[in-house]
Amino acid sequence: MFNKAIYINRRERLCNNMKKGIAFFPCNNEAPMSYPANCYRFRQDSTFNYFFGLLEPMRLAGIIDFDKKETILFGEDYSIDDIIWMGPQPTIKELAERSGITESRPYDQLASYLQQALKEKREIHYLPPYRHDNQILVSKLLNINIDDVNAKASQALIHEVVELRAVKGEEEIEEMEKICNVGREMQLTAMRTCRAGLIEQQVTGAVEGVAIAGGEGTSFATILSQNGQTLHNPYHRGRLTNGRLLLVDLGAESHSGYSSDYTRTIPVSGKFTKRQKAIYEIVLRANLESIGMARPGIPYWDVHLNACTIIAEGLTQLGLMKGDPKEAAKAGAHALFMPHGLGHMLGLDTHDMENLGENNVGYDNEISRSKIFGHASLRCGRRLKPGFIVTVEPGIYFIPELIEQWEREGKFTEYINYREVRKYIGFGGIRIEDDILITEDGCRVLGKPLPKSVASVEAVMRAAAKARQK
Ligand code: GLY
Ligand code: MN
Ligand code: MN
Repeated sequence: MFNKAIYINRRERLCNNMKKGIAFFPCNNEAPMSYPANCYRFRQDSTFNYFFGLLEPMRLAGIIDFDKKETILFGEDYSIDDIIWMGPQPTIKELAERSGITESRPYDQLASYLQQALKEKREIHYLPPYRHDNQILVSKLLNINIDDVNAKASQALIHEVVELRAVKGEEEIEEMEKICNVGREMQLTAMRTCRAGLIEQQVTGAVEGVAIAGGEGTSFATILSQNGQTLHNPYHRGRLTNGRLLLVDLGAESHSGYSSDYTRTIPVSGKFTKRQKAIYEIVLRANLESIGMARPGIPYWDVHLNACTIIAEGLTQLGLMKGDPKEAAKAGAHALFMPHGLGHMLGLDTHDMENLGENNVGYDNEISRSKIFGHASLRCGRRLKPGFIVTVEPGIYFIPELIEQWEREGKFTEYINYREVRKYIGFGGIRIEDDILITEDGCRVLGKPLPKSVASVEAVMRAAAKARQK
């Protein structure tokens, strides 16, 4: 948790921007895995964390009154029965003090507080709940039909929360820097552990241990697979085989809730083949040029389109595509190989604030989401501002099902050499992902440098193989 002044300031800024009504922020609750006392790892709601900083798995709710510029924390103190099992716990009053809140009330007064506000016809703002228990809670407390709860969430509150959370403060950047270094260590562990004969799960276990040792654990389900052509591949059952590539997309979550998100693609044997290197160099160029381009004022859409053009150019040089790469990328022909966007905002969530709606976070009145396959998957297209943190994650994938479908449909035959492309079925996929902070005059990559050139990745793997032989 940061100093309480940070949370007081965030709530004040929200009050100043919202001006009228009240906002209701329920916390996340424990989520049982197999029975009520056996829960998934507790994860506080990110916006609740942002405004209150309280990460305890307790029954809490925050109210911010924009007219009175007041905050109330509702909560239920633990009973002695809980304390016997869990050890000493803070009281709600103590939690409120940590967050700079002077007024705390018992949780069972929340319903009557909100009913009174409804009676007075005050506007009650809330964010769209993504957990079912909170959907039921909002429905019950605000007398809203359960089916309408998400649709009736406050667009004004969503907008103000996005604008505040998108621009990271100094204290957040410091946290991000630290958790990026844990993510970096996870990637280095993958490079050092990877070798033929192991099961992917064994490398996954090694890297996830680094996340637990350095923070709260992983920031999302680790993607670690030789079948890197499946973008979010959740399976780790494959046996590592020389000649194949291993795509590793992972991140750690800090104790304060911030996420890192890195991808590296490494050769199982420790050395890229000539064909792998050729594709890798294209993705690397797209990654590096995108980082070179990202700066305040530029629409991230432009950086994305430039990366897609680089992919198309590289694949044209290799004979997999043809025609004008710029036109091909604009039309979406490159999406056979890169069907996703260049990146997304990163912060308290890996896809930062995605629960508030991707279009609310990544687009605005000026720049709206493309409808073209591939481009439509870009999560953030808006102009960048100093303090934004975004990922840069171009990739090239050979997805057999997509190649077959496009060829069958005769799609983009003016840009794609299907005969050549078919030769790459079984290649897998390559993605290279870094996390960047937009600065006053450009951007910088967060965390200490993590090897990504062919030579530097191979050097790490070679040194590890040598150390194993000793
Ligand atoms: N790790 C998920 C992503 O990169 O978007
Ligand atoms: Mn990402
Ligand atoms: Mn990722």
